[in-house]
Amino acid sequence: AGPLRFPRDFGWGAATSAYQIEGAAKEDGRGESVWDTFSRVPGRTRNGDTGDVAADHYHRYAEDLDLMRDLGLRSYRFSISWPRVQPDGTGAPNQRGLDFYRRLLDGLHERGIAPMATLFHWDLPQALQDAGGWESRDTAHRFADYADAVFTALGDRVPVWLTINEPKTVVQNGYLMGHHAPGRQDPDAAYLVAHHLQLAHGLAVRALRAGNGTGRIGPALNLHPCYPTDDSPEATAAARLYDGYENRLYLDSLLKGSYPQDVLADLGPQSRMVRGIRDDDLAVISSPVDLLAVQYYTPIYVTADGSTEHRWPTSEAGWQQIYPDGMYDILTRVTRDYGPIPLTVTENGLPTPDTLTGDDTVDDSGRITFLRDHLTAAHRAISAGVPLESFHVWSMLDNFEWDEGYDQRWGLVYVDYATQRRVLKRSAHWYRSVIAEGGF
Ligand code: FCB
Repeated sequence: AGPLRFPRDFGWGAATSAYQIEGAAKEDGRGESVWDTFSRVPGRTRNGDTGDVAADHYHRYAEDLDLMRDLGLRSYRFSISWPRVQPDGTGAPNQRGLDFYRRLLDGLHERGIAPMATLFHWDLPQALQDAGGWESRDTAHRFADYADAVFTALGDRVPVWLTINEPKTVVQNGYLMGHHAPGRQDPDAAYLVAHHLQLAHGLAVRALRAGNGTGRIGPALNLHPCYPTDDSPEATAAARLYDGYENRLYLDSLLKGSYPQDVLADLGPQSRMVRGIRDDDLAVISSPVDLLAVQYYTPIYVTADGSTEHRWPTSEAGWQQIYPDGMYDILTRVTRDYGPIPLTVTENGLPTPDTLTGDDTVDDSGRITFLRDHLTAAHRAISAGVPLESFHVWSMLDNFEWDEGYDQRWGLVYVDYATQRRVLKRSAHWYRSVIAEGGF
């Protein structure tokens, strides 16, 4: 095979999120989020880790922006912390919180890197959680107000907005399995939360269109190709329903204006979600978007009895099977089933057992192989007609991996948490040359 060349204007990028890197948890008027609360409960995170300091990006953002420039990044995806902007989740914005993002955006602009800003990457203001959180329909309206404040304050500098990061993960990890904030295990609540997250997305899209906001906007979904483990009708049906909960629940409501019938039937007419859907909700949820952000990490293999199996090597993240063809399958499937909406990959990556050696190298060859294989699959999808604009590695920096704390290292850049020193891993050097050459 010859060298792979991506389109000349391809948006080579990397991604982070606020709670995972910023630290400065008590500075400049920031309020508490559900992740501050959750990570402080003994036993909830590995080693009791919290995001109080994290990668100290709030203070070191200029140094981090220099690293992005050195890599040649064209796009940087980050998230805005709702409790920095509205400490209690409502009311007049906190100017000092907005000022941080203004400095960040100015710094990106000076370095010629295009920002992509996620409005919500899971750090719900604790005050809103106390008022019912995403189980409360009102939270969707609070989100639209917050989004409007951000559009007004920062809209001149942000070409692409993403509304809600991975609603499914909030539903599944936060409300079904409970290993993410707010730590609930309540299926009936979980799908009502799904509906309210979708509604919040749609209301924010409408706020952008109605107000002063410029720029494009879309949702950020983690999609999982679901394959039956054999060709029996039972496994096929089980994989289909699994796909409904993993993918179509979100994709169909956003892009077709309807929830999938098989999922609604499975939830049942008495479920809180089905009872919580009001007349205009699907029209709001399916308000036209400008692009769809896809995050791909792993496939799911579904057996005849609806349980799951691993078929491929597992990464340090126990839930992740390494299967690059899944990237091709999910990208081509979205284009086939939902039309030629512009796509961006906003997360793809893996944790590797990175250690810093005496001569300041981090040999993460596993990350290079992983990214090369997934980019090859993305390139195949582009060749097959998928309108993929950009690709963001998760993550720019090692960071707070939620309940896994700091043990898992997902970054292109190694963070020595004792000193907060940054060291480019081998994968970062590799990525720099890929960007410079437009391929590999
Ligand atoms: C995604 C999250 C991101 C990070 C990666 C590993 O689900 O959006 O914050 O945790 O997984």
